[in-house]
Amino acid sequence: VSLKNFNTFGVDVNARFFVEINHENDLVELFMDPQWQHTERLVMGGGSNMLLINDFGGLVIRLNIRGIEHRINHNEVFVEAGAGEVWNDLVNYCVKHEFAGMENLSLIPGSVGASPIQNIGAYGVELKDVFESCKAFEIASGKFKTFSKADCKFDYRESVFKDELKEQFIITSVKFHVSLIPNLNLKYGAIEQELAHRGIINPTIKDVSQVVSHIRLSKLPDPSTIGNAGSFFKNPVITAAEFAPILLNHPDVVHYPAGDNLIKLAAGWLIEQCGWKGKVVGNTGTWKNQALVLVNHGGATGQEVYNFSSQIIDSVYTKFGVNLQREVNIIK
Ligand code: EPU
Repeated sequence: VSLKNFNTFGVDVNARFFVEINHENDLVELFMDPQWQHTERLVMGGGSNMLLINDFGGLVIRLNIRGIEHRINHNEVFVEAGAGEVWNDLVNYCVKHEFAGMENLSLIPGSVGASPIQNIGAYGVELKDVFESCKAFEIASGKFKTFSKADCKFDYRESVFKDELKEQFIITSVKFHVSLIPNLNLKYGAIEQELAHRGIINPTIKDVSQVVSHIRLSKLPDPSTIGNAGSFFKNPVITAAEFAPILLNHPDVVHYPAGDNLIKLAAGWLIEQCGWKGKVVGNTGTWKNQALVLVNHGGATGQEVYNFSSQIIDSVYTKFGVNLQREVNIIK
């Protein structure tokens, strides 16, 4: 089975086995056959945060569990969605019902089931701010477990599912906690500017969602026309001591406080300073409006994109002494 249409980078590799899961009980049935316990697995939602390097010799499990429901309790709303729902459809569901909390996360690619794994985030809001719990299938036991927010150990683009529980659970549904009373998060400069530009003084949930969508569309390539997986690297977090010489040599370095003596740098800025912004290298390169996004200009192999990312890591290290970490999952 070709995975070309199942990963937003549009890399053309094949999977030996492929199964689509439409209901959580399909997982129970699948793993009753012991051969799958011991086969290498790749669980996919929207395929929007992975780079496939080679043909995959194991089983690809594509989550397609659908359904969105909500329950209102005074001013609080609990929205539960199947893992296979498209993330932005869930955001639109909330915006349409005037449930507040998700609007800054508009237009993030990918599926609901993948959203907790790397604690997706944008424009000052992270998934953990709206997360209530999730249900997941434990492969070894064949049982379902519910994870609270604390169980998930969320951090910047991190959770327990990427770390100690890696590959042990398959998330089947996620419950979110949103509100009928908007508490809009407008502190991200570009949102304020665009609202002002539109002459909006008292923004609604819908206004914020539209503004965020507009900002994303203007900065980020649309995966349906140009293959990409969003930010390819994480924004590096370094200590104040590591930061001091960088600030001395580059007084305009883009940086944010990140708690206890820590500083977060903008990886896109670092990459741009190394001269990579908008560069085309073979079939790959960085996006012209956002150097943190690597793209497939057509026909790129996963290896080609990966090698290019290594070149970027080397040059950022040489210029700034900072080690970029890949944010996209590399599937070898
Ligand atoms: N910048 C540059 N050159 C570039 C790109 C960025 O100088 O080529 C500078 C910008 O001028 C700005 C700063 O870097 O001062 C930050 O840029 P931006 O606001 O575009 O956000 P980011 O830090 O590059 C992060 C997330 C994005 C998320 C945006 C908005 C990560 C790895 N990325 O990007 O998430 O949409 O903030 O909140 O944290 C993703 O994870 O896939 C993703 C797209």
